[in-house]
Amino acid sequence: MKMFGKTIFWITVLMLLVIMAACSGGASTDSADSSEGGTAEAAEQKLRSNQEDPYVGFALDTLREDRWYRDKDAFEAAVEDQGGQVKTLAANGNQDIQIQQARLLINEGVDVLVVVPTEAEGASEIVSMAHDAGVKVLSYDRLIRGADVDHYVSFDNEKVGELQAEAILSQAGEGTFAYVGGAESDNNAVLFREGAMNVLQPHIESGDIELVYDSYTEGWDPVKARENLSSFLASNDVSLDAVVAANDGTAGGVIEALGNQAGEVPVSGQDAEVEAVQRIVEGTQTMTVYKSMEDLAGKAAELALSMAEGEEIPAETTIDNGKGDIASTLLEPLTVTEDNIEETLIDDGYLTESEIYGN
Ligand code: GAL
Repeated sequence: MKMFGKTIFWITVLMLLVIMAACSGGASTDSADSSEGGTAEAAEQKLRSNQEDPYVGFALDTLREDRWYRDKDAFEAAVEDQGGQVKTLAANGNQDIQIQQARLLINEGVDVLVVVPTEAEGASEIVSMAHDAGVKVLSYDRLIRGADVDHYVSFDNEKVGELQAEAILSQAGEGTFAYVGGAESDNNAVLFREGAMNVLQPHIESGDIELVYDSYTEGWDPVKARENLSSFLASNDVSLDAVVAANDGTAGGVIEALGNQAGEVPVSGQDAEVEAVQRIVEGTQTMTVYKSMEDLAGKAAELALSMAEGEEIPAETTIDNGKGDIASTLLEPLTVTEDNIEETLIDDGYLTESEIYGN
């Protein structure tokens, strides 16, 4: 059985490499072969239409959540608008595949690599591989841990957690609470939880709140979030007064698990997914956190192109990633409730009236 699983895995990797080679006009096959012969050799190949423009590689973890499509489109447009070229690859939530894809982008001669790590620690190998080829690395939205990342750009993720907990506390100031986190392999999930606990802890210590459930969700999977909470509720004689969920995907799973209690129990979210905003309008979800992907992608493109030109990037702040204090640029997240959908999401052009209200 195990052997069969491994075979399937390597067939998948091979198929992905073939697809990627096909996408990049077959040259990567050559470079894939020569990758054994060292990235510097392939770097010279510089397989791109215009040698002058800086070439940016964008290595995404996944395209499962809506937001990552927005990031891809916004980042590609921003790089091209600012005079660069970009290639995006997505690893389908698999760290080994992401490392393979990063190697391919380096072999293709990218000048800078922008990475949304699948696993905070697992992606550190990409940084050493890139640096060996003289390529700088920008950590995008999620921080790569344990490596000399050149710069990190994201939102204030601890503040995201604080906004979520504050919004829920304003609806339920006491009682039994649950915390439904994201993937523990994602440094953001750890920061979101830290932010939420910054706000909840004093209320837990005073006894107003009892945190009866506190769990991360593997792979940020909404189905797992639902199953985990459902089995907890089924095997514990407890009814929840509030749930702090880390993103809209897990919030959707939580609301399904609440069943006919949905709408009575305040639930938080993040990412302003259209389904989540519709739930806020119908009253089953309390809030979401809006993070403008246009702003993040625009800033990241600016930083990536400066890094590709070898410019020094001033550190607005730094974050310790276990290897050192990483120069970082953090943007502000926003709370969205039924009261400010218009002046946030709609005015920003993130969602339209008809998408939300269907009229
Ligand atoms: C986090 C990201 C969130 C959420 C999640 C799941 O790193 O900051 O916006 O979407 O990943 O992909």
